[in-house]
Amino acid sequence: MTLLDTLNRPLRDLRISVTDRCNFRCVYCMPKEVFGPNYQFLNRDKVLTFEEITRLARVFTSFGVKKIRLTGGEPLVRKDFPDLIAMLSQIPDLDLTMTTNGSLLPRFAEQLKKAGLKRVTISLDSLDNKIFKSMNDVDFPVEKVIEGMDAAKAAGLEPIKVNMVVKRGVNEESILPMARFFREKGFILRFIEYMDVGHTNGWRMDDMVSAKEIVKIINAEMPLEPADPNYRGEVAERWRYKDGTGEIGVIASVTQAFCRDCNRARLSAEGSLYTCLFAVKGHDFRDMLRSNASDEEIAAKIENIWGKRADRYSEIRSENTIPLPKVEMSHIGG
Ligand code: GTP
Ligand code: 5AD
Ligand code: SF4
Ligand code: SF4
Repeated sequence: MTLLDTLNRPLRDLRISVTDRCNFRCVYCMPKEVFGPNYQFLNRDKVLTFEEITRLARVFTSFGVKKIRLTGGEPLVRKDFPDLIAMLSQIPDLDLTMTTNGSLLPRFAEQLKKAGLKRVTISLDSLDNKIFKSMNDVDFPVEKVIEGMDAAKAAGLEPIKVNMVVKRGVNEESILPMARFFREKGFILRFIEYMDVGHTNGWRMDDMVSAKEIVKIINAEMPLEPADPNYRGEVAERWRYKDGTGEIGVIASVTQAFCRDCNRARLSAEGSLYTCLFAVKGHDFRDMLRSNASDEEIAAKIENIWGKRADRYSEIRSENTIPLPKVEMSHIGG
């Protein structure tokens, strides 16, 4: 059964955050001043178990969810994470994927593939160690992330996509080297406009480099032409190298909002459902899961929430919405 929200958007894509923890402290996501040694991460008993996640995922797929993306924080810091993949991969006809910072892929790539993960998207913001380390803020070297990417490729977790958040004055000069490098490697690099997600990163419009600017910079050296979306509601706008050597994507959530086709729901590690990346509040499912509710009751709650959904934050962003106490990205994942 297909569920439609108030703007006629179906529910197709479920993003599940399996932990609010991460071994990086990216300045645009988990700035150290906030996520320091005293930060209160979720207690283990507050986090959904693998059984609870899998049960919810099954109910969601009964409404036509076709893609499940595991996120965090960093999903691979969750203990026994491949076991969750093994459980979710039993659900038929799912595009089962994850977003990771790549740091633990050398250890886990093979195991994840065996457990049934289809593909991965890996974040990397620069090939320059000085810049990358200033962004991850934990002194993590570029080479180790590349090692993770190579491990993913060797394991067959393809197509491999790479996410680069572009922040003005920080990593703009990495745009071209990244494009050259990943064209050569055959991975799909996607440039993400820096967004005002959460409320701890001190976002300012001036810090954002627009997708248009990014395409212009690359096109000047390596000519590009637009490519059709792979599916309706695809977040990244695709551009192909004219000489047939591959493609890039730009994710213009600030300058060209794509709410009109947004079919994504997000489940936080503690079991709250968010109908928008910029939501201030979620809808709790953990209590229900832990109080013997039936699948039918859970389904009815999802139906009710999605049926009332009217979110379109990126389309209505303004000076007034930027300071709202929005949920952190590390809490609900990208
Ligand atoms: P594919 O499944 O490969 O098509 O990936 P995807 O486009 O769903 O990619 P991914 O989940 O890697 O999203 C890339 C980035 O786009 C995220 O990390 C976010 O920064 C941003 N993004 C994804 N979904 C949304 C959304 O619903 N709203 C906004 N504003 N940004 C989003
Ligand atoms: N703006 C844009 N992208 C962000 N990400 C995290 N925080 C932000 C932000 N403020 C990206 C990460 C990763 C994905 C999960 O989301 O770099 O690729
Ligand atoms: Fe961790 Fe990803 Fe956030 Fe960076 S962007 S701090 S890697 S969750
Ligand atoms: Fe979807 Fe909200 Fe992003 Fe718009 S801002 S695309 S509604 S998640």
